[in-house]
Amino acid sequence: MLWKNIKGLVGAYDSPPSRLRGSEMADFPLLENAWLAIDSGKIADFGPMETFPGIVDWTGLDVVDCEGRYVLPSWCDSHTHLVFAAPRSHEFMSRLEGKTYQQIADEGGGILNSARALQLMPEDQLFEEALVRLQHAMQAGTGAIEIKSGYGLDDEAELKMLRIIQRLKEAVPIPVRRTFLACHAVPEGNWTATTWTRHVAEHLLPRVQKEKLADYVDAFCEKGYFGLEEVSTLLEAASKEGLAAKVHVNQFNAFGGVKLCTNLDALTVDHLEVLEPEDLEALKSSSNTRTMACALPGCSYFLGIPYTPVRELIKADVAVALATDFNPGSAPSSNMERIVQLAILKMKMLPLEAIAAATLNGAAAMEVSDQAGVIAPGRAANVLVTKPMEGLEGFGYDFGESSVEKVFIDGVEV
Ligand code: NIG
Ligand code: FE
Repeated sequence: MLWKNIKGLVGAYDSPPSRLRGSEMADFPLLENAWLAIDSGKIADFGPMETFPGIVDWTGLDVVDCEGRYVLPSWCDSHTHLVFAAPRSHEFMSRLEGKTYQQIADEGGGILNSARALQLMPEDQLFEEALVRLQHAMQAGTGAIEIKSGYGLDDEAELKMLRIIQRLKEAVPIPVRRTFLACHAVPEGNWTATTWTRHVAEHLLPRVQKEKLADYVDAFCEKGYFGLEEVSTLLEAASKEGLAAKVHVNQFNAFGGVKLCTNLDALTVDHLEVLEPEDLEALKSSSNTRTMACALPGCSYFLGIPYTPVRELIKADVAVALATDFNPGSAPSSNMERIVQLAILKMKMLPLEAIAAATLNGAAAMEVSDQAGVIAPGRAANVLVTKPMEGLEGFGYDFGESSVEKVFIDGVEV
């Protein structure tokens, strides 16, 4: 396939960087008036129209005119809870009637609600329903995804979730990364945050590792969930097992979790709706951290909580990723385009910054940079084609519409 007259080819590199920090994000490449060649499901080459290849053999060549359209790498969604048993729209109703997300959780709802339902649902049914959700996300342009456990909250149910994630990984042609969300909420029964974390570190984590079911561990570092002590126990145990961490932190309260995560070399800190100067300091690249920030504006939008101060992170030269946080409680949407739109409209990200955060940096936030997040020769042709657009600001400006017209995975239209 040869695509010509592309209005703007976004995120195309000969040799892509592994991540973009701070001001580099606004310089995500935009090649105007370009062509792109796709062969056997892979990106073959690209260039400006002035170098449009003189074609010798036209047989079997499909030339597509992309006049007015942009071509982008497909979305890389580095934070989801896509495996769950049931929606929680009744909790949403309670919120409309005046309760807060935290009040609902304190009354035994929230994550505990999802866990009760998940423990009861057979593995095959959970898998089938999650697969439908995953395919839906792919149709909307997601070309790489991370999926967490964390609604099991007992050994067997957590392992069940991780096996389902493994089956999902095998069922789809896009990269899937698996996260053991070991400390999501304190399980019902006689557990405390401390005893559950110790149990995870000593018993469950070794089982997860023995079955090779996870790429990362995760914890919800938050008041009423898991504190610094527990998060550090988990991350240290995981590190001994060779697993890096992606951590839910600073969603409602800041109490030193970010610094703990950067000190323990977490790959990402996610949420950061609350961000104190010491958190920012810990994340500054000058402090030599590899830890990236991951903003989840769908959660802010849906819960009506503050948005992650992304402009401050960018000013501090931090690498920022954007993800959906797709889950039934705080962000029931898997649509990455909507996330980019919120990032532009609500967090004042420039279109190219938001797109870089949702593609190249999203890939970095789950270590699939060698497979996804950019358009580069030899890579899988996982790309999006937009509708005719005035400019990339249309991702924010046309807020009632989808700007994506076609989605390709391995060069095949989805
Ligand atoms: O990222 N904050 C913790 N975990 C999820 C929400 C979990 C839920 O409400 O089911 C999140 O927002
Ligand atoms: Fe989450």
